[in-house]
Amino acid sequence: MTNSSLPQLTLPPRPLASIILAAGRGTRMKSDLPKVLHPIGSRPMIEHVLATATQVGAARVVVITPPEAPRLIDAVKPMPCLPQPEAKGTGDAVRAAQPALQDFKGEILILFGDTPLITETAISTLRQAAQQNQAAVTVAAFTPEDPKAYGRLILDTQGQLTKIVESTEASEHEKAQNLCNGGIMLFESEKLWPLLSELTNTNSKAEYYLTDCIALARQKGWNTAYALLPPDDLTGINSRAELAAAEKIFQTRKRLAAMQNGATLLDPETVYFAADTQIGRDVIIGQHVVFGPNVSIADGVEIKPFCHIEGTSINQGAIIGPFARLRPGSIIGNNAHIGNFVEIKNAEIGEGAKANHLTYIGDAQIGARSNIGAGTITCNYDGFTKAKTIIGPECFVGSNSALIAPVTLGQGVMIGAGSVITQDVPDNALALTRSPQEVRQNWASLFRAKRTRKKN
Ligand code: UD1
Ligand code: MG
Repeated sequence: MTNSSLPQLTLPPRPLASIILAAGRGTRMKSDLPKVLHPIGSRPMIEHVLATATQVGAARVVVITPPEAPRLIDAVKPMPCLPQPEAKGTGDAVRAAQPALQDFKGEILILFGDTPLITETAISTLRQAAQQNQAAVTVAAFTPEDPKAYGRLILDTQGQLTKIVESTEASEHEKAQNLCNGGIMLFESEKLWPLLSELTNTNSKAEYYLTDCIALARQKGWNTAYALLPPDDLTGINSRAELAAAEKIFQTRKRLAAMQNGATLLDPETVYFAADTQIGRDVIIGQHVVFGPNVSIADGVEIKPFCHIEGTSINQGAIIGPFARLRPGSIIGNNAHIGNFVEIKNAEIGEGAKANHLTYIGDAQIGARSNIGAGTITCNYDGFTKAKTIIGPECFVGSNSALIAPVTLGQGVMIGAGSVITQDVPDNALALTRSPQEVRQNWASLFRAKRTRKKN
């Protein structure tokens, strides 16, 4: 328990190791993808947990995976993995880490791959509670609005934690209270292995429950404690609905962080970030903007409503949208303008360049201050390979032009509207491919008169 009346201990923190459990069957997700690889903010949930373990200074981290989990092992690289031969419960999973951490002396933090919203602050609070109570085991507790299938903390009359009962084993009376186990626990390394060796699986699921370590510790006369943490931090994900609920919490946090760092979100609830989205100061983001992975936005950028942006870096002062789609590999230069119904893929747009309407720019380089007219297409794909379009600085590409890559326009080139450009164009030249215009004087009036006569 966090007890503010106890004097604050000033002992230096002990070394920290972390075991991340990710070997569960995840059956409630009904998915071929391992549960912990389902994304939150476009990043597999296990990566959120790994990042937090690193942030809190875990000197050693071990991920427990199922025996055959190549995708999972790949996703957590370079962190070491150990297999749990069979999913026989959370206690058994922690035991699988013993070969890697048996010699470790300090605190061992158990994190769950399916509880990705845990924060650095929450873990500090947990460590403080452990230190203040000199506890063999300290539980991250919370009081969710709906205690669902979470394990319940059982306290004695002095408010000391005596045991955790899983909801499947809990009596109606025990289930009626909502002080729940968030799953995350902190053990003294010296106490963890002996406790695990005494776990049994005599319960409704025939599993070795990590939660039984609490009652075992009390039987040995060891202290136990809990820290009450914000419910959002301990949201566990077992189903698609819980995945969606966790995504919502994550997005709320990212929106707040963006605003705290000096961005204006015109309607925060409609803006969706990825875990790695970087947003500068004095950025304005309009309604209904979605960021995929790997986007960075410099100071003073404006993103107008209804844009979809991924794998792109946008430099200072650029104006994007409304209705722009920026795809991976794109770099938008300082003060460039990308307007409505413009798609940019793997292209570098120079400083002050403009593509304001209805354009596709793919596998291209556009020089500074060039203007790309409405309806311009870089034809980058011949059905087999992709080729590059290079446009120099200060070019003017007339509307509805097709630039057949590979093709290079020099500096200051002009392209007549409606052209199909297949050959390179030298500096300052005009290129156009257009059939000559024919004008037939009075033809339209004669045509209308003829048709009117016929109709009558
Ligand atoms: C667990 C806790 C419960 C707590 C809840 C919080 C136990 C017995 N129960 O229940 O008290 O309220 O988390 O979210 O600890 N895992 C393995 N190997 C296994 C089983 C699970 O690695 O054999 C991993 C899973 O991949 C997951 C984590 O452990 O990351 C939790 O497993 P899960 O089955 O989701 O436990 P809950 O039923 O949620
Ligand atoms: Mg769970």
